Amino acid sequence: MQNSRTPKLTVVGAGPGDVELITLKAIKALENADVVLYDALVNEELLQYATNAEIVFVGKRLGCHAYTQDQINELIVSMANRYGHVVRLKGGDPFIFGRGSEEIEYSEKFGLETAVVPGISSALGVPASVGISLTQRKVAESFWVITGTTSSHELSKDVHLASKSAATVVILMGMHKLNEIVDIYKANRTDDLPIAIIQNGTKNSEQKVVGNISSITKLVAEKNISSPAIIVIGEVVKNTSKLTSYFQEHFEDEFIFQNLNL
Ligand SMILES: C[S@@+](CC[C@H](N)C(=O)[O-])C[C@H]1O[C@@H](n2cnc3c(N)ncnc32)[C@H](O)[C@@H]1O
Repeated sequence: MQNSRTPKLTVVGAGPGDVELITLKAIKALENADVVLYDALVNEELLQYATNAEIVFVGKRLGCHAYTQDQINELIVSMANRYGHVVRLKGGDPFIFGRGSEEIEYSEKFGLETAVVPGISSALGVPASVGISLTQRKVAESFWVITGTTSSHELSKDVHLASKSAATVVILMGMHKLNEIVDIYKANRTDDLPIAIIQNGTKNSEQKVVGNISSITKLVAEKNISSPAIIVIGEVVKNTSKLTSYFQEHFEDEFIFQNLNL
């Protein structure tokens, strides 16, 4: 380990899960790292690129945080002062519900050099990987990306606003609020609005379910879909060729297929 290097933090996005969905710049940062602090959503195969680094898991497993956010902030600064270049590897993009900006702000207060390597967020990469186009001409002119669970553990009020628009809505961290989300859509829109839920998107363990607002909770229970998952709501869900073939391959979902008139 070197301690003569300038103390530096690079906050790096690891992409949504598939190891090939990390950027070249992120790999170079890992190769150059003296320390890597990584989260639970990061594919651990990516750590092979950090050949010269001390590697520390700082995420959440079995519902327990290995470190609090304050401890992570302190660890970044102390590791950078001791060893040099700290890479903070986060799932998806570090600035999409990733607290990357807080870690940068804290580190800069202690004089660290900082840099950011963007990643493919699950909010965009997971829908695309299953063939859902979040915008589509004449179908959806915009999309919202919302957290299902705010820092005070409540459903974001933005879900109410978004459900009244024609936009595609992508909800992260929403599985524990699925019943509430469904009720909001029933009240503000229509029961047969298409919805897809993808767990562990782009990973070998990926699972997905597609239905409509009235069928989705039953389907999720039947298929045992849970976090980490993203919820995509909107007409675009039924307008994708990949999902059409997905429906056709899964005969147990025949009735959903009919519901969506595909
Ligand atoms: C704390 S947020 C981090 C988001 C991350 N920064 C990003 O850009 O993807 C964690 C949530 O992201 C979503 N998520 C992350 N990776 C996912 C994946 N591979 N498949 C489905 N959802 C994922 C889930 O909703 C999960 O609860």
